[in-house]
Amino acid sequence: MNRYQIVADSDTVLRDGTIKLHGPEAFAAMRRAGRLAAETLDMLVPLVRPGVTTRALDDAVRDFTLDHGALPATLGYRGYAHSCCISINHVVCHGIPSERALKDGDIVNIDVTPLLDGWHGDSSRMFCVGEVPLKARRLVEVTYECLMIGIAAAKPGARLGDIGAAIQRHAEAHRFGVVREFCGHGVGRLFHDAPEVVHAGVAGTGPALKPGMFFTIEPMINLGKAPVKMLDDGWTAVTRDRSLSAQFEHSVGITETGCEIFTASPTGRDKPPY
Ligand code: MF3
Ligand code: CO
Ligand code: CO
Repeated sequence: MNRYQIVADSDTVLRDGTIKLHGPEAFAAMRRAGRLAAETLDMLVPLVRPGVTTRALDDAVRDFTLDHGALPATLGYRGYAHSCCISINHVVCHGIPSERALKDGDIVNIDVTPLLDGWHGDSSRMFCVGEVPLKARRLVEVTYECLMIGIAAAKPGARLGDIGAAIQRHAEAHRFGVVREFCGHGVGRLFHDAPEVVHAGVAGTGPALKPGMFFTIEPMINLGKAPVKMLDDGWTAVTRDRSLSAQFEHSVGITETGCEIFTASPTGRDKPPY
């Protein structure tokens, strides 16, 4: 049985396993937080070049977020001490900014979450550093297509499982692996809320999607096999077979007719080819 929680925009909201149904003020607030996430990633586009350290990129994310009246939600989240996650090549997600410099041919995911006026705008996209081999570019493009196919399935009348089923079908048609260990999530006043949005699954299963639900879709797709391994730092997830991995993430809200992408780039820089 699925339970829903209709939340007045002014309510304090709890993580109690229910799926929240938000009203117009919450949509407006998520639009603002989501736009800031997109602008943060847009700001990074000219900075992501061979030679830049991921620490310098993290500093840029922190400064930009603070300058725009928001806080990086990852800073201090469960002990995480950085303003974004930067995941290079075979790193699947939650890569930790460091003195590592980007090099020609790297594919890089940067995942940001500004917390603006109490609302979380969670988004990530891939960046290509210099000249990237065709196979890697193809992985990036197909992963973006997976996100958008998942978003197209997110509408009233559909079920949550339809999203993962659509993503899995597309990724596997290209013989790519869909990561199972991490999923999308409800988002809003809470960073990670119900429901879990899996990226591989069975159509027609799971909760019915209703107007007012907010969640992320954030498929991680591997050039090789799906399984993931954790590094000893407790955060960094890598592909077990060391194959390349890509990810795109948007925060969306279900509307009467489909869904609104809160984290779409106002300049269109959130989609390959770049
Ligand atoms: N932004 C990530 C997500 O998409 C979460 C990062 S949590 C961190 O859900 F602590 F690793 F930063
Ligand atoms: Co997320
Ligand atoms: Co994210």
